Amino acid sequence: MTRSPDPRNTISYRGDDASLVQAQLAALKQQQSQLFADMARGQERFRRLARSVWRVQEDERRRFARDLHDGLGQNITAILHQLEPLAASTRMNSVDSQRIERAIDLCTRALHDTRMLAHMLRPKILDDLGLCAALNWLCRSVSEGSGFAVEVDCIEDLVAANDDLATLLFRVVQEALNNIAKHAGASQALVKLSVRDGQLHLLVADDGGGCDPGVAMAADGLGSGSGLGSMRERLALFGGHLALISSPGDGTQLRAVLPLRGNPEDG
Ligand SMILES: Nc1ncnc2c1ncn2[C@@H]1O[C@H](COP(=O)(O)OP(=O)(O)O)[C@@H](O)[C@H]1O
Ligand SMILES: [Mg+2]
Repeated sequence: MTRSPDPRNTISYRGDDASLVQAQLAALKQQQSQLFADMARGQERFRRLARSVWRVQEDERRRFARDLHDGLGQNITAILHQLEPLAASTRMNSVDSQRIERAIDLCTRALHDTRMLAHMLRPKILDDLGLCAALNWLCRSVSEGSGFAVEVDCIEDLVAANDDLATLLFRVVQEALNNIAKHAGASQALVKLSVRDGQLHLLVADDGGGCDPGVAMAADGLGSGSGLGSMRERLALFGGHLALISSPGDGTQLRAVLPLRGNPEDG
């Protein structure tokens, strides 16, 4: 049964009032779509700007890494070359020769740390040989320096060397492996890069203690972490997204998906 509307809740318009309201509604609709279009343009401008800032940061890191490697690194090597003949000299008393040995030891460690820092800032291998070579190098160094094994599954030439996507994916894997080393207590990890349906799929999985993904992703908002949050923001700048799949005691999977083409409007 249909009830007729309560006349107290009904506004009735005369013919000319109704067309005035319709015209106002149409004008409002147009204003609304204009606002949405302006907002979308503003967001795209913001993303373009954020990508440029990110590129400037990466260029700075590249320059700093080169200065560290070629400047400080070369100077420490030169000091080592000065010290080594002294250590081999037979004219030195035992106290002095112990001092020289200690100085050589310190220089060797400083040289190793300087090179490591330069590589982590911006591995030259990423620019020279591309993403897969850089990932293999990164996973090997992380494996050697921490207590878990890392397997890499990466098909060559997915993205060109010097491509933004190569840098982005390298940074995501770097942070994901840092997280495994810091939080997971894992014995094994896998880094897998593949292409499906024109999209790059990155998986970083570990067999560690796992976590609550909701809490982990929210940690950034609470100011207690920043890695996952900045990964997610950077991926979004290039049209990608991030998912963390985990449950306590059951390992963690970090999945990132990125359109292979990157940013058409950037050229
Ligand atoms: N592979 C992982 N295994 C277990 N917990 C993880 C892993 N990755 C991230 N987490 C959890 O997610 C939280 C947020 O990570 P992140 O944003 O990188 O910040 P941070 O590493 O500085 O704590 C971590 O504190 C940790 O609890
Ligand atoms: Mg972290």
